[in-house]
Amino acid sequence: MGQRTGQHGAIITAVERYLPDRVLTNHDLEKLVDTSDEWIRERTGVVERHILDGQPTSYMAIKVAERIIAARDLDPAEIDLIIVATATPDMLFPSTACLVQHAVRATRAWAYDLSAACTGFIYALVAGAQFIQTGAHRKVLVIGADKMSAITDFTDRSTCILFGDGAGGVLLEPAQTANAGLLDFELRADGAGAGCLSVPAGGSMMPASHETVDQRLHYVQQDGRSVFKFAVARMAEVCATVLERNGLTGADLKLFVPHQANYRIIQAAAQRLKLPAEKVMVNIDRFANTTAATVPIALSEAFQQERLESGDLVLLAGVGGGYTWGSVLLRWENRSDPGNT
Ligand code: ACO
Repeated sequence: MGQRTGQHGAIITAVERYLPDRVLTNHDLEKLVDTSDEWIRERTGVVERHILDGQPTSYMAIKVAERIIAARDLDPAEIDLIIVATATPDMLFPSTACLVQHAVRATRAWAYDLSAACTGFIYALVAGAQFIQTGAHRKVLVIGADKMSAITDFTDRSTCILFGDGAGGVLLEPAQTANAGLLDFELRADGAGAGCLSVPAGGSMMPASHETVDQRLHYVQQDGRSVFKFAVARMAEVCATVLERNGLTGADLKLFVPHQANYRIIQAAAQRLKLPAEKVMVNIDRFANTTAATVPIALSEAFQQERLESGDLVLLAGVGGGYTWGSVLLRWENRSDPGNT
């Protein structure tokens, strides 16, 4: 589907994350709903999550953008495009990306939000890379940010245990070396899944009213078992498709960075790819499902832990509301390497 055809490789030259300070543990949730730390750990792998108080999603996205600008020592006016993947924008419009653009004074950048729920960052990374690969842009900021606590019903034990708040992002720039950066992708959508995972009210279908608030329709509603089955099957499938198309197996990968929705979903994909635990990024225990932010947060941890070296093959994967799902194959390049200054 998505093997690179453009002239320029798109590499990640900075990767950063932001997690809000407040930690909400499973034991804290035991006080809110009829659940237990043991049930949540066994069924999801989550132990605790971070919660953002008194600020919107853009607050976290701006922190990530500022950290990327500092890490790469950028003049914000050099940024060409900002894409924010989010299911929890500050407002229906203007886009959260415009708020980030203004806050960091990226005076030359255009900016838009991308809506693909938990696959948002994967979609946005591929979208952003196209502008580098065609030569249209040289600096694209791609951020995944979600304040899931804003759309989580903390009286519903089947959903409130799953989510957390956070943001992560990357800077994409042209590669100086051949065969570097984003090598291939497979992105999919199936709107038949719309009824299985959604926030029904607040859009044009069901504008906010007393009734929608009374019926708690502004919170995430899901058929957890259907979503689980779909995610287990599809995330593994899309990863296998990308590897096979490139003549690779799990043994060729340095790292697999999957969306963190449920540890059992991650395990199923890792087993299908025959990946040992040390090749799989898992941080769902500390951050839960931060929707569009899980993959860049995990990538930023991997980078900080020095688990990525130039030449390493990295597979990213996501699945979420829509349904949407997808996978991206990268050849990692460290920005400090010659030619990538
Ligand atoms: N604590 C204790 N018991 C619970 C809880 C809880 N928090 N939640 C549900 N239960 C109970 C149920 O009521 C049920 O009881 P019953 O057997 O008496 O009816 C029992 O536990 C089993 O429920 P299941 O729903 O079958 O549990 P399952 O093993 O499927 O786990 C879960 C539920 C964790 C939600 C799982 O289905 C899942 O992870 N689904 C995927 C959800 C997901 O990832 N969604 C996010 C995508 S988000 C996005 O795209 C924005």
